[in-house]
Amino acid sequence: MKGIELRNKFLEFFKSKNHTIISGAPLIPENDPTVLFTTAGMQPLVPYLKGEKHPGGTRLADYQKCVRTNDIDEVGDNRHLTFFEMLGNWSLGDYFKQDSIRFSYEFLTKVLNIPSEKISVTCFGGDSDAPRDKEAAKVWEECGIPKERIYFFGKDDNWWGQEAGPCGPDTEIFYDTGAKPCCESCNPSCDCGKYIEIWNNVFMQYNKKDDGTYEPLAQKNVDTGMGLERMLFLLQSKNNVFETELFSPIIDKVRSLSLEPNDESLRIISDHMRSSSLLICDGVLPSNVGQGYILRRLIRRTIRHMRKIGFDVDRITEVCETLVDSLSDMYPELNANKDNIIEQVKKEKNRFMNTLIKGEKEFGKILNKLKIENSDMIDGHSLFRLYDTFGFPPEVTAELAKENGLKVDMEGYKKLFEEHQNKSRQETAGTFKGGLADHSEVTVAYHTVAHLLLESLQRILGNHVEQKGSNITSERVRFDFSHPEKVSREILDKVENMINEQIDRGLVVTCEEMPLDKAREYGAKGVFNSKYGEMVKVYTIGDFSKEICGGPHVDNTSKLKHVKIVKEESAASGIRRVKVVFVD
Ligand code: ALA
Repeated sequence: MKGIELRNKFLEFFKSKNHTIISGAPLIPENDPTVLFTTAGMQPLVPYLKGEKHPGGTRLADYQKCVRTNDIDEVGDNRHLTFFEMLGNWSLGDYFKQDSIRFSYEFLTKVLNIPSEKISVTCFGGDSDAPRDKEAAKVWEECGIPKERIYFFGKDDNWWGQEAGPCGPDTEIFYDTGAKPCCESCNPSCDCGKYIEIWNNVFMQYNKKDDGTYEPLAQKNVDTGMGLERMLFLLQSKNNVFETELFSPIIDKVRSLSLEPNDESLRIISDHMRSSSLLICDGVLPSNVGQGYILRRLIRRTIRHMRKIGFDVDRITEVCETLVDSLSDMYPELNANKDNIIEQVKKEKNRFMNTLIKGEKEFGKILNKLKIENSDMIDGHSLFRLYDTFGFPPEVTAELAKENGLKVDMEGYKKLFEEHQNKSRQETAGTFKGGLADHSEVTVAYHTVAHLLLESLQRILGNHVEQKGSNITSERVRFDFSHPEKVSREILDKVENMINEQIDRGLVVTCEEMPLDKAREYGAKGVFNSKYGEMVKVYTIGDFSKEICGGPHVDNTSKLKHVKIVKEESAASGIRRVKVVFVD
């Protein structure tokens, strides 16, 4: 079975169970500033899991393109990927545990013909927040999974949800590869590779409140996710995802053009080129910030590995062609964006190559110097110089360093990077005020206004105000937020004044990357809906606002013009919409 067939069978199956097939969202979350990328199928569905009506009804299914950036450095082993596809089905207050488990079991054993003996499952073991999930275990037993293959674990393994909001116990389905148990206590929670997790069914029956306590949810939902690539290699009796048709044409192409191919580099190249191409399809361009920086890292790491295995990087466009040709049945957008993908990859390759050779020479010099000094640590200054002068992302240097048995002083680098940013800030201060140079500069500025707006609305109207969406053009920011009634002109004036005050104060805007839970502790605003330990950016505007966001932003509020709220209207029930513009 091919990947496209697996996807189609999944969607057909859930269609036959009265699910509406919906489109997955783009890789770049449209109105969720909390994460850089879409990391799970449920992410675009959060409002509906919370009770908003979905136009498709109460039973939904889709396939969702996902990118997870926290795994970048792991790619190269036999299972980590930066891009993967999640097949999912949802019940929005419709069916619950029984049907959800039965659907999964039926699909696996009747449609995919997986022998029941291959399946092991895990259920939530219970704690002070929620009871042991005997209900789920009972349904599994009724399906024919014997007790010995039903395991119970705690929150770490069998609970899924946001930092706050809908969440609940889950039951995870594992495929037993038949490998020897790694030890006496080998079980599905073990990392040895005997058991591969193929599907997660989450029973979203609780709401986690901001104070960390749980309350039952009026609407009990089901949220499931199956990793297509993993399921596929198991169905094809392959050893890993890279042996499936999703990667093998790309790997074969690169191997055939390489002098010294090795598995690790081939996997990195095929994975990174796949994510890069799909990111470009969704509008990302290589840059030094946000999503663009991740794309830059992916392409540059690809090129480094191509050089490592003796692949002529000028032929990278041939690999793009192979990739587009081999994956367009699953992702037609690749074909539609073929020229753009090739152009962007080629441009970034040229930019990188211009600096790479000089950078590698410089790296060699650093190596010699360290040898003389008998040190194994590349200091922050050298890291910064390689980045600033030679375009070496510090992560690339860190990788090169590791290959040479060296460490890097990332903290020292970060300090210098910030100092440098402050300096360029001072140099360019006032340029924005002097005139709106180009459209992108204006949208960046409006983006910062959106942060000031949210904070001001909350301070003036109350903490019930939550951002429900935003849309920015070079003309205005449109901003939706929860509030039960019309906001009077008087209040709007207050909000406007508060924003303009912050602009006059010339607050410095800083950005820091941290894991999601740290961001929460730090008090940053945002929706904490990722389980994946995702690194997030937190933008701090002086003493006024802290918010999780992909950026970019102006670096000082003095670069903003004064604003005016020009419109206030209802966007949906309980949601108000305002438009804010810059005034001269
Ligand atoms: N949202 C669940 C997951 O990502 C299904 O595992």
